Amino acid sequence: MIVAIDGPAGAGKSTVARRLAERLGYRYLDTGAMYRALTWLAMTRDIDLSAGEKLGALAEENPITLDEGRVWIDDTDVTAAIRKSRIDRVVPVVARHPEVRAIMRTRQRELADVGDAVIEGRDIGTVVCPGADVKIYLNAERQTRAERLNAERQTRAERRLAERPEIGADALATDLRIRDQSDAERMMPAADAVQIDTTELDVEDVVSRIEQLVRERQPA
Ligand code: DC
Repeated sequence: MIVAIDGPAGAGKSTVARRLAERLGYRYLDTGAMYRALTWLAMTRDIDLSAGEKLGALAEENPITLDEGRVWIDDTDVTAAIRKSRIDRVVPVVARHPEVRAIMRTRQRELADVGDAVIEGRDIGTVVCPGADVKIYLNAERQTRAERLNAERQTRAERRLAERPEIGADALATDLRIRDQSDAERMMPAADAVQIDTTELDVEDVVSRIEQLVRERQPA
C-alpha cells in the first residue's frame, strides 16, 4: 500500500505522515528532506543554484538515504543542517529544475517500490506515485501553518534534529509566503485526492481519518 500525503509547508504533513506510518507499521518517506539535502550539498560545494544540469548530475552522483528519521548523504548525517532557514529559502530554487525532479522522481519511485509506505511531499499523488492506493492533500490557513512551522522548529531543536532557530516567527511567516509562491506550481492536489483542511483539526483526528481510509482499501 502506498499512501501519498501532499500539501504546502505547515499543513501538518510531517506529523500526520509520521504518526500514520507508526500506526500502520509502514515506512515513512519524507521527499522534502531529499530536496533539502541536495540543496545543502550544492551550497556546501558552491554550485550555482540556477544550473539545473549540474544539480541533476549532483543528485545522481550523491544518493540521499532516509533512515529512521535521519537523512544522510554518503556518510554525512545532514539531518540538522537541512532544517536551517537558509535552506528553507533556497530549496524551491533547486526543486524547480526539471533535471533535479527527474532524478528525485526515479529515486522516490525506487523507494516506494520496496513496500508499504506513507510518502510525504508535494507531487506524490500527481507525479511520483499517481497509482497510490490512498491520496491525501492537506492544507490549512497560512497563519496557522506559520505557527505550526515555528512550533516544529522548537521541537526539532529540542530533539537535536535541528539547530536553534535563527529567525523569529514574523520572518518565518514572510519566508512561508515567498515559498508558497515558488512552490505553487507543484502544489496542485491530484484529482482523486481526499482534501483535508487541518486548520481546526487536531493531529489525532486527521491521522484517524486517513487510517480509516487506508484500512478500507487494504486487501482483505
Ligand atoms: O516539505 P518541505 O518543506 O521539507 O519541502 C522542502 C522543499 O522541497 C519545498 O520547497 C518543496 C520541495 N518539494 C518538492 O518540490 N517536491 C516534493 N515532493 C517535496 C518537496
